[in-house]
Amino acid sequence: SILIIDFGSQVTQLIARRVREAGVYSEIVPFNSAAEKLPGINPSGIILSGGPASVIGDETPRAPEAVFEMGVPVLGICYGQQTMCAQLGGRVEAPDHREFGRAEVDVVADCALFDGVWEVGQRDQVWMSHGDTVTAIPEGFTAVATSKGAPFAVIANDEKKFYGAQFHPEVVHTPRGAELISNFVHKICGLPGDWTMASFKEQAIESIRREVGDGKVICGLSGGVDSSVAAVLIHEAIGDQLTCVYVDNGLMRAGESEQVVSLFRDQYNIPLIHRDASDLFLDALEGQDDPEVKRKTIGRIFIDVFDEEASKIGGAEFLAQGTLYPDVIESVSFAGGPSVTIKSHHNVGGLPERMNLKLLEPFRELFKDEVRALGRELGMAAELIDRHPFPGPGLAIRVPGAVSRDRLDILRKADTIYLEEIRNAGLYNEIWQAFAVLLPVRTVGVMGDGRTYEYVCALRAVTSTDGMTADYYPFSHDFLGRVSTRIINEVQGINRVVYDTTSKPPGTIEWE
Ligand code: XMP
Repeated sequence: SILIIDFGSQVTQLIARRVREAGVYSEIVPFNSAAEKLPGINPSGIILSGGPASVIGDETPRAPEAVFEMGVPVLGICYGQQTMCAQLGGRVEAPDHREFGRAEVDVVADCALFDGVWEVGQRDQVWMSHGDTVTAIPEGFTAVATSKGAPFAVIANDEKKFYGAQFHPEVVHTPRGAELISNFVHKICGLPGDWTMASFKEQAIESIRREVGDGKVICGLSGGVDSSVAAVLIHEAIGDQLTCVYVDNGLMRAGESEQVVSLFRDQYNIPLIHRDASDLFLDALEGQDDPEVKRKTIGRIFIDVFDEEASKIGGAEFLAQGTLYPDVIESVSFAGGPSVTIKSHHNVGGLPERMNLKLLEPFRELFKDEVRALGRELGMAAELIDRHPFPGPGLAIRVPGAVSRDRLDILRKADTIYLEEIRNAGLYNEIWQAFAVLLPVRTVGVMGDGRTYEYVCALRAVTSTDGMTADYYPFSHDFLGRVSTRIINEVQGINRVVYDTTSKPPGTIEWE
């Protein structure tokens, strides 16, 4: 396996992901517990991640000395390269100007890391993000690539198999970066690329069994991909020690609650409690038009209802959640100071504390597309696995202004038509998320010979890889015209349809 020592970079999980993509198992350990864990792991190679700290000074994070004495290959990335240099006798300094974003490297010498990727004399794009820079390299190393801001953009000691890159090979903005990481794990560490999602599944099942023992687990099903795959995986691991709870908040799309309940009860045979709490939610939302207040209200009632249902089960020790890595990373703050809350996505944040349950989160290290791959591995149906994400507060954040039963009904009808047309056009899987929004604005129209004064419906569709950034989807005019005609003809209450062409940033995906 590969051991990744984490110095706190925002993208450490991307390193793990690239290693997984190369078919190799990896483990991440924080730098401050690496020394004690090292002997138990016995890795074939070590990657030192980037991080927000500065190498300059005494009390800064360091790799355990053993890392450089075990005779295994080491790849230091950004901070990892700097600490490797500092620890092995090189020098790191803070230059006048820092380097963030796209940069170019010039390859000046061969090394095993570049094998089949870069040749001497080549120039290629990389992604830099550093303040300090290496100004002298330890004995035995040579500079194999340079950049304007980093004379030692890549350094190599082929004999010891130590490598360092100032840039980030793990991010997509370094186009050949994944190949460099693949070279490191295959050619330099000599690991075969035979680790797959099937292996992940086996390992995850093992570790769920170990963690849970003969305890009881409850899992809140939302109908979305993450909680569904979590439920199926956990059920495979511990069978009926798992009970799922589905709380219908009255904010789901047309037909959705029925689908979830029948799928889990009838097809997967997973014990499921179905609680229809629509009235509780909708009554509480009455007259509330602030997006954050809506989220908090929905989150609070969800916790109450879930708690009530779960306590009927009795004796549960664990709460299972389909938390993904991007959720984990979004909820912590970084070196730049606490991050600003744009939207309080984590609507059920208080649940485990309140219920005095331990969290079971088998996907904390995975990205959404990896959870989808795992779902396929578990034999789950494509319609479920490839579903677009759906937010916890549901349609409430797609009716700007106050939510009412009437407005939700109008929205459901429009949304159904829109998604039906997207599916018919074969575009569903090209789009990351698509939905209709019912604006609280009425406009004048003319239908037949009469005047109308009805609501505006906005359509949204985006492409994205992780929901953090997104682009609007370029539908044909033909397609937009067809959807708009159908919605206006078939949905009473809407007489105008508009298409949202905002990317994220500066927009967000949802309107609230
Ligand atoms: P935004 O609108 O922030 O959305 O660009 C990014 C992704 O997150 C989803 N989203 C939420 N999910 N609770 C959730 O569980 C929320 O409050 C929430 N708000 C947005 C959104 O649907 C998109 O996939």
